[in-house]
Amino acid sequence: MSGHDLLRGRKALVTGGGRGIGLAIVRAFVREGAQVAVTDLDPGAAEAAAGEHGERARAFRLDVTDGAETEGVFDAALEWMQGLDLVAANAGISTMNRVVALSEEEWDSNMAVNAKGVFLTNREAVRRFLASGTEGVIVNTASLAGKIGAPLLAHYAASKFAVVGFTQSLAKEVGEHGIRVNAICPGFVRTSMQEREIVWEGRLRGMTPDAVRDEYVSATPLGRIEEPEDIAEIAVFLASDLARFLTGESINASGGVLMD
Ligand SMILES: NC(=O)c1ccc[n+]([C@@H]2O[C@H](COP(=O)([O-])OP(=O)(O)OC[C@H]3O[C@@H](n4cnc5c(N)ncnc54)[C@H](O)[C@@H]3O)[C@@H](O)[C@H]2O)c1
Repeated sequence: MSGHDLLRGRKALVTGGGRGIGLAIVRAFVREGAQVAVTDLDPGAAEAAAGEHGERARAFRLDVTDGAETEGVFDAALEWMQGLDLVAANAGISTMNRVVALSEEEWDSNMAVNAKGVFLTNREAVRRFLASGTEGVIVNTASLAGKIGAPLLAHYAASKFAVVGFTQSLAKEVGEHGIRVNAICPGFVRTSMQEREIVWEGRLRGMTPDAVRDEYVSATPLGRIEEPEDIAEIAVFLASDLARFLTGESINASGGVLMD
């Protein structure tokens, strides 16, 4: 797809930008004219993603569960870009288990990356927007599991419901400054996370991974697995002035798996 300059001159930071949905967001933001700080827990993935775009992107290693590291990376990214207009808080993890078998460690790790990580990234973004008087934009990656419960994913769903509530609350807090905060709720997206999930789910339900994926397609009115690029285009829309009067929304982006 060719760009429409929807984000021309914007300075953006993306978390979990090294692969999957984050990588697609990085590519789409650059295509639309943005300069992008590509951050990821995996420095090699961040380097490879940024390396596609020459001077338009730079890699930073960032673990979003660490507040001090988050602050330091925002400092470094702002110094490089000389500003910040746009943040995509996308980093996330999942595991699958029935609640009766769920460990405290699984609960804590999902909550740490998916809920606390979004809080820390958004806090840092808003601090910078307020300090510079920027009418900035935040796009969080939630999930359909942030809107409706999902078996084997109770801990993940709890962390994603947290993202939806946080997004609404922060949007109400900062709207008066012209700062917009929205979230995207993807469905069944073809990424490394999904590759892991279909194996776990197959094991827990006595099915093959392919049969699990077939179920995902059957549950999708548009009749295919979602691609990371499907999400990235919605991130571009939310980040752009086309969405200038949208805030606090958590938009289902799932080919119709969930419609309200
Ligand atoms: N794939 C799906 O079907 C799906 C559906 C709904 C929501 N999501 C959400 O989309 C987002 C991206 O998921 P994906 O499918 O692209 O996953 P992925 O596992 O393919 O990629 C996630 C990226 O985040 C990075 N990451 C993990 N922990 C991190 C941390 N602590 N700090 C910084 N980076 C970290 C990983 O290194 C990786 O590069 C997540 O928030 C996920 O919950 C995915």
